[in-house]
Amino acid sequence: MVTISQPSTNEKSYSQEDWKRGYESQKGEYSYWIEKIEGHIPLDLEGTLFRNGPGALDVHGTPVRHPFDGDGMITAIAFRGGKAYFQNSFVKTKEFMEEQKAGKMLYRGVFGSQKPGGLFKNIFDLRLKNIANTNVIYWGNKLLALWEAAEPYRLDPYTLETLGIDYLDDTLKPGESFSAHPWIDPHCKMDNNEPCLVNFAIQPGPKTKINIFEMSPSGKLLRRHSHDVKGFAFIHDFAITPNYCIFFQNPVTYNPFPFLFGLKGAGECMSFEKDQPTSIIIIPRKAPYQNVKVFQAKAGFIFHHANAFEKDDQTLCIDSVCYGELSQLNNEGSFKDVDFSSISPGQLWRFTVDLKEENVEKEMLDPWVVEFPVIHPQKVGRDYRYVYLGATHNPEINAPLQGLLKLDLQTKERQFYSFAPRGFAGEPIFVPKPNAQKEDEGYVLVLTYNSASHTSELVIFDAQNIPQGAIATLKLNHHIPYGLHGSWADQIFIPES
Ligand code: CO
Repeated sequence: MVTISQPSTNEKSYSQEDWKRGYESQKGEYSYWIEKIEGHIPLDLEGTLFRNGPGALDVHGTPVRHPFDGDGMITAIAFRGGKAYFQNSFVKTKEFMEEQKAGKMLYRGVFGSQKPGGLFKNIFDLRLKNIANTNVIYWGNKLLALWEAAEPYRLDPYTLETLGIDYLDDTLKPGESFSAHPWIDPHCKMDNNEPCLVNFAIQPGPKTKINIFEMSPSGKLLRRHSHDVKGFAFIHDFAITPNYCIFFQNPVTYNPFPFLFGLKGAGECMSFEKDQPTSIIIIPRKAPYQNVKVFQAKAGFIFHHANAFEKDDQTLCIDSVCYGELSQLNNEGSFKDVDFSSISPGQLWRFTVDLKEENVEKEMLDPWVVEFPVIHPQKVGRDYRYVYLGATHNPEINAPLQGLLKLDLQTKERQFYSFAPRGFAGEPIFVPKPNAQKEDEGYVLVLTYNSASHTSELVIFDAQNIPQGAIATLKLNHHIPYGLHGSWADQIFIPES
């Protein structure tokens, strides 16, 4: 199989001005058949791609301080018979609608967006806005926009109309959160090998409560349990295996005073303690949910895990994108002026935990600078071979994501495709072909931003041959700001006109 030669130059692969434009707000909401298509959409690619991310990077002209504070906007591309239907819509949360009506920013953002008016407008204002901008899943016959600090919002999957907060059939109590990183166990042995959704929520404080939820395909709560862990925890993602939920408690401390006094966003009050270890918390998925184990390892800062699996009865492997430190914005300036070369890059590591010897080993799986790892959905929690990632153009230079990288963890072979210099990439989504035999028999879908045309393009790859480039490029009529996470649903959701 072809492996593309690595780019040999260390020159900057992009211009900051091009990259910045991908963060212009998209306030339009559209619904149309995509007509500009290069190549052919495979006929066996049928279903709907949903993505979420900040659609607006300002509120009535007041810029957000951090893209994580931007209002959530859902993008849907439904595939049927070689054609594709596009829709996008903001999640009309209560706070979003209030700000629309008021014509100004009313809420502070978790990541530091401050209302105009300075200290006196922000002091002791602890209200947070549910921005519903991090992920979107179709589960239990519901389309749900997820944001880790609040309840999910439900939308109509055909029209993307916002239906309101959803408590998941009373799984959640009002005010309880539901993280943006659920996993679907493809064959849960507690449920006769049926799939189940596993998710968590954290209630941070001087000690932190972790709630774990497992839900059936019809959206019913199967199992729920809670655990206290020591200290403040910032946990964005977790990992599962058939027997365990695994959490990496990043080494951060929290000082709420700048938030209380209106000087910073709640998310900005964390400080990374680089000499402190990460706690790896391993919680059984089976009742009575006891015998929780906690191990320490030097692991840097982690947002996302690629996968985890049980190598044998006593050995767990967890593959994660790790940063040397948590990079924070300084007080001045915009996130758009960030100097990528000065911030710590993320790389894929494997942590091997020996449950009996109580020992953790780590190794770097590949030094390429990456984010947003995804795998075959049937391999969640199982030993696996392939991982797909958003990657930088030059393997070891921190920069915006401009490429798609496939790693073969068995042979260490890399396959790569770059959209540089003017294209920018995000999270890939792997969609298996119907009746596929091999783990990489499928398609990889990447929503890219093309700064040359200031439009976005959905690029479809044959997962077995990434370097050959697109088998189809679907050109949207406008851009979609850089997004966060998304998912694939086998159902085809097209609004009937
Ligand atoms: Co995430």
